[in-house]
Amino acid sequence: MPDPRVAVVGATGAVGRTMIEILEERDFPLSELRLMASARSAGRVVATRWGDVAVEDLSSADPSGIDIALFSAGAGRSREFAQSFVDRGAIVIDNSSAFRMAPEVPLVVAGVNDHAAADNDGIIANPNCTTMTLMMAAGPLHHHAGLARMVAMSYQSVSGAGMTGMDTLWQQTVELGNRREALVQGGWEEGETDPFQRPIAFNVLPMAGTLTDAGHTDEEWKLVNESRKILERDSIEVEPTCVRVPVMVGHGISASMWFDSAVDPETARRVLTDAPGVELWSDERVATPLDSAGQDPVLACRIRPTIGVPGGISLWVVGDNLRKGAALNAVEIAELLI
Ligand code: A2P
Repeated sequence: MPDPRVAVVGATGAVGRTMIEILEERDFPLSELRLMASARSAGRVVATRWGDVAVEDLSSADPSGIDIALFSAGAGRSREFAQSFVDRGAIVIDNSSAFRMAPEVPLVVAGVNDHAAADNDGIIANPNCTTMTLMMAAGPLHHHAGLARMVAMSYQSVSGAGMTGMDTLWQQTVELGNRREALVQGGWEEGETDPFQRPIAFNVLPMAGTLTDAGHTDEEWKLVNESRKILERDSIEVEPTCVRVPVMVGHGISASMWFDSAVDPETARRVLTDAPGVELWSDERVATPLDSAGQDPVLACRIRPTIGVPGGISLWVVGDNLRKGAALNAVEIAELLI
C-alpha cells in the first residue's frame, strides 16, 4: 500500500488523542491525516506533526479517499458510520464493541493473533481494553500450553470511561479530598457520579460496566467472549469480575490460569520473558497502574503457583488502557496492514 490516508474518528476523546500521539511517535507513514468528532468539536484545529488539522463533523464528513480509519467514538457511531467508510474504500479499525463478536470481523491483539487481521471484509475490531491487557500474557501462555480455565479480576481505571471518567475522578478527588473527617467517619455527600454508578474517588466500585442478564456486566462478558475469540478456543472457561478503581490510567488484572497440562512459574516466566510487548517486573518492586501510564508494554509480576487447585499459575498484569488497551493496538493493526 502506498502511504495511506488516515482518519481518526473520535479524535478529541481520550483514546482518539492518544491515537494521534502514537501515530506521531511511531512516525507512521501516512500521506494525509483527517480528524473527526461530533459537531461540538467541528472546526477545532489540532496541531500535528503533519501540520494543523481542522476537526470535521463526522455526521457530514465525506469519507472518500480515506485508506485507514481508526474509530473510537463509541459503538453507536461505529454502527452508524463504519460501513459507509468501508463502502468508500477504507479499512476501519474499530475500537468499540460494535463488531467485535461478529463472525466475519477479526478481533486482533497485535503480537498475539496477528494472522487474523488479513481475513477481513473492511472492518477489524480492537478488543476491549481489559481483555487486551490480559491477552498479552494469556496469549503466549496459551500458545505454549493450551489455556483451559481462567479466573480473572480486573482493576479498571476511570479513563476506560473516556474523558468524562477522568474529569469525574478529578472533580470528586478535589471535593472529597477536603473532607477527610467524612471519609473516615461517614457523612460525605454523594454528588455527581456520572458516568459511574457511585462515587469513585477514595472508593472502589465492585462493578465496571453495565448490568446484563444474571448479574454480570457487559465488561465481564467481554472478558469471556473476546478471550475465547482471540485465543481461538471456545471451550476456555472464564470466571470474570470487573471492578472500577480510582486510578486515572492503567487497567490491572489479577488472574489464575490452568492449562491442558501443568505449568510452573519458572516456565511461565520464561514464556513471558520472550513475549512481545510484555515486561516482567520483580515482586520486590511490583508493577502498578502508575508505572504503566504512558508506556507501551504491558507489565507482569506476582507469577506464582496456584494453591487451591494446583498445576496452574496466578499472576498480575497491568497496562495503559489508552495505549496497548486501545490506541496503540489500533495503530499496530494499521501497521500490519501496510
Ligand atoms: P466530541 O469531543 O466532539 O464530543 P471520550 O470517550 O473520551 O469521551 O471520547 C469520545 C469521542 O467520540 C470524542 O472524540 C467525541 O467527540 C466523539 N463523539 C461522541 N459523540 C459523537 C457523535 N455523535 N458524533 C461524532 N463523534 C462523537
